[in-house]
Amino acid sequence: METKRLNLDEESLNCAADILKGGGIVAIPTETVYGLAASALDKEALSKVFAAKGRPQDNPLIVHIDSLEMLKKIAVNIPEKAFLCAEKFWPGPLTMVLESSGFVCSEVSAGLSTVAVRMPSDSVARAVIEKSGLPLAAPSANASGSPSPTSPFHVLDDLDGKIDAVIMGENCRVGVESTVISVTKDGARLLRPGAVTLEMLKEIFPDIAVDKAILSQPEKDEKVASPGMKYKHYAPKTALYLVNSSSKAFCEFVNKENAVAVCFKEEAKNIKGKTYVYGEEENEEAMAQSLFAVLRTLDKENIEKAYVHAPKKQGVGLAVYNRLIRACAFRVIDL
Ligand code: TXA
Ligand code: MG
Repeated sequence: METKRLNLDEESLNCAADILKGGGIVAIPTETVYGLAASALDKEALSKVFAAKGRPQDNPLIVHIDSLEMLKKIAVNIPEKAFLCAEKFWPGPLTMVLESSGFVCSEVSAGLSTVAVRMPSDSVARAVIEKSGLPLAAPSANASGSPSPTSPFHVLDDLDGKIDAVIMGENCRVGVESTVISVTKDGARLLRPGAVTLEMLKEIFPDIAVDKAILSQPEKDEKVASPGMKYKHYAPKTALYLVNSSSKAFCEFVNKENAVAVCFKEEAKNIKGKTYVYGEEENEEAMAQSLFAVLRTLDKENIEKAYVHAPKKQGVGLAVYNRLIRACAFRVIDL
């Protein structure tokens, strides 16, 4: 199949909406990462998404909406605090797992009784939802297991020829996938950290639970709250090691090892070997923005092994750490 490249003009966005209404699949920009969208009401379109990505059937999808009316169609018994979250964080990078009404196809939820919903803030994503009039199921638009795409070129690297179209938008503003929480009448649980941070969520849920899979490796066959956590994720081919240390100790360590380093901007000048910069120290947003592009570059350049300086596990840094620990296959060095 030939993958159409669509621009950002009105006509192109109408074309994207028409493809989606006709049961096709289109990669669209969002503020977090590019998503591979399909109608959440079309079983066949959904199966195309799983096939194009090579995604396991038991890993459910997030439904993207543009109104609370749509939310109320998709979910039932919505707790009051979920509406509070919607008011505070939507449109934006927060996904809520709620009780499904059965309105969207069961394939979206991969057999669970819940459904994950998010209202993106990106204007292109919103225009496509609005023009199609559909709730859009959209996983990240990468091949399953590779780093999420933060530019249309990343999408094409993985999926050219396998999807109907890609919207050639800008690089994503956030750079890591949305925060995922489950919300029930008993409270909330953080399933995946993102740009809506734990600190921000605590203002609404002071007792929010943090799933242990966020920072540790699930045991084999362990049942996890979010099926996505159990899969090898965000993994470049490069063997990566995550290093928790001060800047000084990190530089000394990689210099001694004569190794490739994935580090912060300020450190690069103190490192003798090859460096790949992801953001600046003390600026977790900047790390999130460039993280996946750097992981993709490592692979393109056939880097065999590299040490990554870990961010602090605070703010968006927790999300960056969560993605990195998986990219590093849980190989962590504490200096
Ligand atoms: O930022 C994002 O969320 C991006 C953009 C495109 O919106 N999408 C995204 O989708 O990251 P995906 O499929 O790559 O990740 C969805 C995550 C997976 O870990 C999945 O297991 C979890 O959300 N999830 C989806 N539905 C769920 C449910 N009903 N219960 C628990 N976890 C769920
Ligand atoms: Mg993904």
